[in-house]
Amino acid sequence: MRILNSPAQANGGNGDRKNLDACTIVIFGASGDLTARKLIPALYHLFKENQMPADFRVVGFARREKTDASWRTELRAALDQFSRTKPVDEKVWAAFANNLFYCQGDLTDDAAYKKLETQLAGFGSGPLRENLLFYLAISPSQFGEVVEQVHRCGLLNKEGSAWQRIVVEKPFGHDLASAQELNRELTRYAHEQQVFRIDHYLGKETVQNILMFRFSNSIFERLWNRESVDHVQITVSEKIGVGDRGGYYEEAGALRDMVQNHMLQVLSLIAMEPPVSLEAEAVRDEKVKLLKSIRELSPADVGKQIVRGQYFAGAVNGDPRPGYRQEVKVKPDSNVETFVALKLFIDNWRWSGVPFYLRTGKNLPQSASEVRIQFRPTPNVLFAAQCGSQLDANALTLRLQPDEGIYLRFNGKVPGTTIDVRPVRMHFSYDAEFGAYTPEAYERLLLEAIAGDATLFIRRDEVETAWKIADAIRTGWERKPLTNREFYAAGTWGPIAADDLLAQLGHTWHEPQLLKKLANQ
Ligand code: BG6
Repeated sequence: MRILNSPAQANGGNGDRKNLDACTIVIFGASGDLTARKLIPALYHLFKENQMPADFRVVGFARREKTDASWRTELRAALDQFSRTKPVDEKVWAAFANNLFYCQGDLTDDAAYKKLETQLAGFGSGPLRENLLFYLAISPSQFGEVVEQVHRCGLLNKEGSAWQRIVVEKPFGHDLASAQELNRELTRYAHEQQVFRIDHYLGKETVQNILMFRFSNSIFERLWNRESVDHVQITVSEKIGVGDRGGYYEEAGALRDMVQNHMLQVLSLIAMEPPVSLEAEAVRDEKVKLLKSIRELSPADVGKQIVRGQYFAGAVNGDPRPGYRQEVKVKPDSNVETFVALKLFIDNWRWSGVPFYLRTGKNLPQSASEVRIQFRPTPNVLFAAQCGSQLDANALTLRLQPDEGIYLRFNGKVPGTTIDVRPVRMHFSYDAEFGAYTPEAYERLLLEAIAGDATLFIRRDEVETAWKIADAIRTGWERKPLTNREFYAAGTWGPIAADDLLAQLGHTWHEPQLLKKLANQ
């Protein structure tokens, strides 16, 4: 499904995914995990599906000694593990691998960039040398250096119709100040239009479908406001613990790792106003406007509206898990949160007074991401005698992953002579409707970056506004160790305090349910 059809970016690009400009993708950090796990498998699949430009090269830049041949061999082996389609098509791989080249060098060494320049010159004097996508799969502390170096070599702002773009990965800073500093570093030598900040949630098909669903279905759009919606729940739960990422997680925590980026992105797509067009700036303007209308949180509000949690030892579906404090590279008295639940209010015309509940956590009973729009109940007068307060409110659930789909819950009469009402469901499953179509988020994002369409990337003011929200929460937590009510056993739905957060307004969390299971009920 294609929701985006915005025209080319100011810095070149033709906006047409069918006729993409020839270009070279330079991956800084080519020896890293991301390259082998995500980037090369994504490029291989785009190539396999004839979606890459007719002519392209990929140059991997990293410190380790490698040749083109050894890098290709290494990536081929990694593909066996990380490709979403198996087995790897050897013919396709051989044709694809001919386009992969390695450039050995240190990110801080001027000579290495000269080498890169020479390598690019070897691709001729046309677009392969001029249209350049620099992918920074490196630590943010190195962004500034790399951008300055490629600028100095004349690779960044070429004259004429050629384009150069920079793709950056998260974490994009760890607070507002550091994100602003990164933005300053990136835009010292590049224009904002050249910077593509990744949030891989925006590459997910179902996340993109949120806008399509909202703005192409009049039956739902007219209900999408405070008149009809009682509250909204967004759950992004994960069965995995922090595993071997304890070191990173100690610095991040769930708020920085999931809420500041992925969850606020989903929230802004769910709640934003219709954009004037599907052009990148129009969509991003509305997302930023939405983020700015989230009610500010004082430290006292944080105490009332935000719940954090940390898992202790338990079992996820029978699989024993250590407590967070026992994970490798985690301090034994760590106060880092592995769970966050939020009650946010959006102070605008559409949503005034409607609570938005968000929760995310590690070591929860299910891995599932979904948005549930719960509608206001009908006056409970007709069926009160039979159903009491049990009459369920209507709800619409957008299941983002896994088992992608949408289902609507409403009330129906149980067949028989008694008046008995119970919730029933209508559901749409992507799988059943369109067949299994599961491109990785990175495929879409790389394609959009090559095409120069920034809609699915985070704009400077967007990332900064999201950090302001996260920073306010951190300020509220400052110097407050976790209390007993904030711990949860691995394998449960988070701390009790998260349930209390909803109970304040008479709400309860709804557990994500597998659509397939519902269909068979
Ligand atoms: C990443 C986080 O950004 O997103 C991880 O760093 C998290 O901690 C992951 O597990 C979740 O992504 P997905 O696509 O598996 O939902």
